[in-house]
Amino acid sequence: MKSSEIRDKFSRFFESKGHKTLPGSSLVPTDPTVLLTLAGMLQFKPVFLGQEKPAHKRAATVQKCMRMNDIENVGVTPRHHTFFEMLGNFSFGDYFKKEAIQFAWELLTKEFKIPALKLKIAIYEKDDEAFEIWRKNIGLPKEIIYRLGEDNNFWSVGPTGPCGPCSEIYYDQGPAKGCGKPDCAPGCDCDRYLEIWNLVFISYNRNEKGELIPLKQKGIDTGLGLERIASVLQGVDDNFETDLFQPLIKAIDALKAESSPVSVRIIADHIRAVTHLISDGVFPANMGRGYVLRRLIRRAISHGKRLGITKPFLFDLSRVVVREMKDAYPQLAEKEKTIVAAIKEEEDNFFATLEQGMKWFAEAVKAHEQDKFLPGAEAFKLHDTYGFPIELTVELCLEKGLKVDLAGFEKEMEAQRERARQGHQAEKKTDLTSLDLSPFSPTNFTGYEKTAEETKVVGVFAAQKIVVLEKTPFYGESGGQIGDTGLLSWNKHEVRVLNTFISPKGVALHVVDDLSGLKPETKVRAVIDVSKRKTTEAHHTATHLLHRALRDLLGEHVKQAGSYVGPDKLRFDFSHFHSLSSEDLQKVEQVVNQKIAEKLKVEVLRKSYKAAQAMGATALFGEKYGDQVRVLKAGNYSLELCGGTHVRSTADILFFKIISESALGSGVRRIEAIAGQSAKVYAVFRAKSLRDEVESLIRKYRLLQVEKERLGGQKSLETNIFEIEVTELENIAKAVDNHDSNNVNKFLDHLLGRVDWLKERIAKAEREIEALKERAAQRSAGGYAAEAVEIGGVKVLFKEFKENNMDLLRTISDTLQEQFKSSILVFASVFPGRLIYLISVTPDLTGKFSAQTLANAFSAVVDGKGGGKDTKVEGGGKDPSKIKEGFEAVRKLIG
Ligand code: SER
Repeated sequence: MKSSEIRDKFSRFFESKGHKTLPGSSLVPTDPTVLLTLAGMLQFKPVFLGQEKPAHKRAATVQKCMRMNDIENVGVTPRHHTFFEMLGNFSFGDYFKKEAIQFAWELLTKEFKIPALKLKIAIYEKDDEAFEIWRKNIGLPKEIIYRLGEDNNFWSVGPTGPCGPCSEIYYDQGPAKGCGKPDCAPGCDCDRYLEIWNLVFISYNRNEKGELIPLKQKGIDTGLGLERIASVLQGVDDNFETDLFQPLIKAIDALKAESSPVSVRIIADHIRAVTHLISDGVFPANMGRGYVLRRLIRRAISHGKRLGITKPFLFDLSRVVVREMKDAYPQLAEKEKTIVAAIKEEEDNFFATLEQGMKWFAEAVKAHEQDKFLPGAEAFKLHDTYGFPIELTVELCLEKGLKVDLAGFEKEMEAQRERARQGHQAEKKTDLTSLDLSPFSPTNFTGYEKTAEETKVVGVFAAQKIVVLEKTPFYGESGGQIGDTGLLSWNKHEVRVLNTFISPKGVALHVVDDLSGLKPETKVRAVIDVSKRKTTEAHHTATHLLHRALRDLLGEHVKQAGSYVGPDKLRFDFSHFHSLSSEDLQKVEQVVNQKIAEKLKVEVLRKSYKAAQAMGATALFGEKYGDQVRVLKAGNYSLELCGGTHVRSTADILFFKIISESALGSGVRRIEAIAGQSAKVYAVFRAKSLRDEVESLIRKYRLLQVEKERLGGQKSLETNIFEIEVTELENIAKAVDNHDSNNVNKFLDHLLGRVDWLKERIAKAEREIEALKERAAQRSAGGYAAEAVEIGGVKVLFKEFKENNMDLLRTISDTLQEQFKSSILVFASVFPGRLIYLISVTPDLTGKFSAQTLANAFSAVVDGKGGGKDTKVEGGGKDPSKIKEGFEAVRKLIG
């Protein structure tokens, strides 16, 4: 049965059972909590949660899906993919377990005619209801219904959201495909039992606290893997041998110069994912989905290299995907040009550096063959200079038996981010008190209206590089607002204004980088840095709104005690006696953003000081005002005396975000906040760096799972952890555009929650790994016993380990002491550039030997030190290459 026929039969079958066939959704989900569409149910998440009404109570879809969690198995096993298609039927508060099970059974055994004897079932261990249905309604013997735990048979879309117990249907490929272990059964990692269909009985919503809240309306969500069912129905035992992959495999085979079946399969898998991702609007990038795409393309190219392919080839293969899949996904044909071009560009880029990168990699491997450890700086170089995604470096290293210093790599990445963060802002401090300004009258400031001015020089201070102009658009630092920067130009000359100050009498002083022959009477054009001025103005008007909001919320005792208003941020110091709660801060933020959204007109009224006071304008305590004052009015909301420059409408402030609140002294608080473009950038940047953190934690978690499996543990089946995103930046950006600071905060909190959640999981995995190592150590301790030697009638064991921590050394030591009763044990464990050691002497021998004396001899050789008792010393050293020599020194002392 061709795969196109399978899709079709599935839809027809469920239509006959009252289901509406609906289109699958894009690989780019609207749900902000996942990066990629990982299951058919995702588009229905709000329906399952009762947030949206379903248009149909029963639905069926063919859904393209992506999961990155099995990437290292792709091509290695017959059944793992990054991109796959899921056939699903759904019930929204309509039928439940019984019908879902009956439908699935009927389709498999009647329509698809799979012999019932080949099928096995796994249910959630506590789901007696499902057990009864499989047993009584379907009539299966209880021996083929396996009860498995939460890891295997309780499905969740992510850390939060709809979830419930599930029943899985497995196809038994026969013992020849199996691992042969006596306990091999559905759920085993080997190839014997192929999970083809998962029936999820959606019953709960897991909230942010991890609690299961029962749903008012239960639902059904099922997923039948197209590639797997195709392999069953086409009588092949490998997904890559189905009609879904064969045309691709043939095309790749035709290109290759060398043989590597795994590489061929990896390329076939990845090009499907890549083609569909681009058709859904994803383009290569350094984060998020774009990074997934880039990683897949580059990984596929590196496998192409192993096949001896020497020029870009992937872009051409995408045409095969389009040709084969366009009937099911017509959009592929429409987007073909874009797809091919996007892959070609990424391929050209990577090919240009791949060759050199591989050479460099080979050298790095050679240099670190001994310590089996690739330093973070080198992984970073591969990433930064040669474009190797870190996961690719980890894989390449794994093949060569090297570990990658991921912590070091992250450090380099962070350093790079930090470098990007730091602009090159040279700030100049100038001592103005020494200047004789008596010849000058106050400068005519035209900068309230204008950003450029034709004017002339009236004075120059050569030593301080200061220029005085007849009139100027440059605002001189005052009232908290920083001075303008910009340019002075004349004839063919141009100098930069680095800062502007204003003397107490009102003379504007322009600090320039170079005088270049400027002298009195030179006619110049003075132009300020408009973008800097604009963000400064946004901060200034925002300061007024903040002031008002604080007084409204906290009381009229709130008075401005100082401020800084620049392009980077605003700082507002005010009298108040307690710290502000986070709710207060959120309220203030929301009010200010509300005023921004109201687009209040900002205008200046010129009034006498008295009139201004009568209007209720806020004046600064201790500030001197002339007869005529400027009153800044923002709608009917804020009225404040001010000489600074401001936006014309609060809409120009764009967005307002508080970054900190602290105590400045007794009774004075300080709020720092940002507005304008920088607030937008800040919110998005903060989200991005949190997301980077989430992504790197996810990578760490994955590597830990691999490590766990290597140590004989069970890889966690939390299928979705690798797809968890992470609020998409677009959503943050949208909330910012809507002046919705509450939502922005919610997104940021959400990301922080994810970070905590992952850290917990990582800590758990680390504990599990320690336990596995401990168990392995105990098991192997027995094996080491045979390596002990007799020296002068004493049983002695010298043993060198690799990266065993002290706990493990203790476990092995305790186990062996128990076994030997009387012995001297000398253990060392090597880490990159260092070692740790443990020397133990059973109490019956301490009359003759002291662990301390032995440890001193050992330490002297390995450049180390240790501490302990006569029975046991633990220590460390700096020179692992001297361990053998150190053992020798100890041996001599024993006899
Ligand atoms: N959502 C379930 C899964 O992905 C069933 O579709 O396995």
